[in-house]
Amino acid sequence: MQNNFSIISSFDSDAPFFTEFRRLILKIKNCSIDSEIKTLMVTSAILSEGKSTISALMSLTAAKENGLKTLLLDADLRKPSIHKLFGISREKGLSDVLTEGFDPKDAVKKTEIDKLDIITSGSYVKNPANVFDAEAISFMLDGMKFYYDIIIIDTPPVLPVSDPLLLSSKVDAIAYVIKAGSTSRDVVSRGLDILSTSKHKIIGTILNNSNSSLPYFYDYRYIGYHYESDKPLSKPSIINPEKKMRKKNKNNSDSQPAAQSIMKRTDNI
Ligand SMILES: Nc1ncnc2c1ncn2[C@@H]1O[C@H](COP(=O)(O)OP(=O)(O)OP(=O)(O)O)[C@@H](O)[C@H]1O
Ligand SMILES: [Mg+2]
Repeated sequence: MQNNFSIISSFDSDAPFFTEFRRLILKIKNCSIDSEIKTLMVTSAILSEGKSTISALMSLTAAKENGLKTLLLDADLRKPSIHKLFGISREKGLSDVLTEGFDPKDAVKKTEIDKLDIITSGSYVKNPANVFDAEAISFMLDGMKFYYDIIIIDTPPVLPVSDPLLLSSKVDAIAYVIKAGSTSRDVVSRGLDILSTSKHKIIGTILNNSNSSLPYFYDYRYIGYHYESDKPLSKPSIINPEKKMRKKNKNNSDSQPAAQSIMKRTDNI
């Protein structure tokens, strides 16, 4: 089913958080010396931390601002939302590729942005656990890599289901979303522990909803980002965990936040 809303209409390249997304994409494309990052999985510990929103915004930025030929893949067969965000039909997507042998190239949906294509989650499946096949997705991604500069993959959270863990071994890199002020340290750490076999692929954390919930020293103005405008309040911000921890520890020497475990597991994003 289609609706009229599309996240594309919310794209404002002057908004501060798009500058952060632009930086993030640049860093992702430049951070690996050995091999180029082509497939990036976006996940989090639990539900509703902002994975789909951030996957969509990152894809928009990569295509529109960084000029990268971008594919956004909705690999959340349980609670798919990329089709809703872009106001397109979910049918003929990933689940159809996995169950019907549908050609992935025929599942690609063009968008009004020249360099942005989408593969939606596909037709409803009763048992996503039985359908989700990381090997088959990996095979599909290998074929699609040829056509794209970057493939951004929206996935379910790691604590409730095993899909992202299975996929983590097949992607080049992982971005871990944390909903600030909402997800507890233990939960964040547990999610990272689950991903531990692929911990070297976690290239960074994305702190979502940061301004409205964190103390002042988490504010982007205090972590080295300076903008002309203060909008919007609940922006996603790309954090440098090490820098933030130094600031946090300075202000609260008793704290042992989850960001410490993130630091151990991330490179410098
Ligand atoms: N920075 C933000 N500011 C305000 N609202 C946000 C922000 N990020 C996400 N949201 C809202 O929070 C809700 C959950 O976001 P989203 O669907 O992206 O999360 P998710 O992690 O993909 O969820 P799920 O685990 O169900 O797939 C949505 O209604 C979205 O619009
Ligand atoms: Mg989602």
